[in-house]
Amino acid sequence: MKDVMLWLGAGQIGMAIARRVGFNQKIIVGDKNIENAKNIAKIMTEAGFDIEPVECDISNRESILNLIKKGQEYGEIATLINAAGVSPSQAPIEVILKVDLYGTAVLLEEVGKVIKKGGRGVTISSQSGHRMPALTPEIDEQLATTPTEELLNLEVLQPKNIKDTLHAYQMAKRCNVKRVMAEAVKWGKRGARLNSISPGIIVTPLAIDEFNGIRGDFYKNMFAKCPAGRPGTADEVANVAELLLTEKADFITGSDFLIDGGATAAYFYGGLRPEK
Ligand SMILES: NC(=O)c1ccc[n+]([C@@H]2O[C@H](COP(=O)([O-])OP(=O)(O)OC[C@H]3O[C@@H](n4cnc5c(N)ncnc54)[C@H](O)[C@@H]3O)[C@@H](O)[C@H]2O)c1
Repeated sequence: MKDVMLWLGAGQIGMAIARRVGFNQKIIVGDKNIENAKNIAKIMTEAGFDIEPVECDISNRESILNLIKKGQEYGEIATLINAAGVSPSQAPIEVILKVDLYGTAVLLEEVGKVIKKGGRGVTISSQSGHRMPALTPEIDEQLATTPTEELLNLEVLQPKNIKDTLHAYQMAKRCNVKRVMAEAVKWGKRGARLNSISPGIIVTPLAIDEFNGIRGDFYKNMFAKCPAGRPGTADEVANVAELLLTEKADFITGSDFLIDGGATAAYFYGGLRPEK
């Protein structure tokens, strides 16, 4: 039996991470778009990885349970990479909340029930969640601990309280970070660790949709004026994920890592500060 890696979201960020840590493991890659999973599985098979593509919708609990079951046919679940998601230009508010917020919460919960001792997980949040003003401690706690099936009923997530798709995305990504904190406590009881990464603009198909969408100029301005002066690459996200998914990070759990070329710093204290 091999250790098993479950990986959701067969995109560029997921692949960059999976290639760093996926050797010696059976990799199950799930994506709602099975063609994406198959294409990436082909690339990785040709690079020597042991990988199987599976159709999986992160916003559906049954589908997540199927993915876990598939993985368990090969061994114990040792690694989780969650890089599935939709961006503000790709989907309406309800889909963003269902996929990015609810789906992530269910995945962390279900994998947390089966992760092996010493197991490690990373989920991809976003710098977007770092831009919103602080929420109240009560709302933070609701996002962290409300039972998954009740999450989307929270008052703060109702249509009258969500301005637009960007706001929905920000709430989802803030929720991811809070959820990781709460789940890390449960994962810890099994001897496993869980963290999140909040990338800035990383060139992937999802980001290219943003560059070509209604907020295109906003994004181009963001990377031009951030300290790094450029968008990032999936491999730079993988640099941090690789650390988090090895024993070098055994003292790190329940944390979020912002990797954004300094864009958030510039948003609060530099050239990206919104005009008052
Ligand atoms: N690219 C960026 O600039 C950036 C920045 C911050 C955060 N992120 C986050 O990184 C994650 C990965 O994005 P990426 O840039 O690699 O995008 P990508 O488009 O390359 O990959 C995303 C994948 O998720 C899949 N997916 C969408 N809905 C799904 C669902 N319901 N169930 C299962 N899979 C689904 C898509 O089919 C796609 O293959 C997302 O959560 C995104 O919000 C990306």
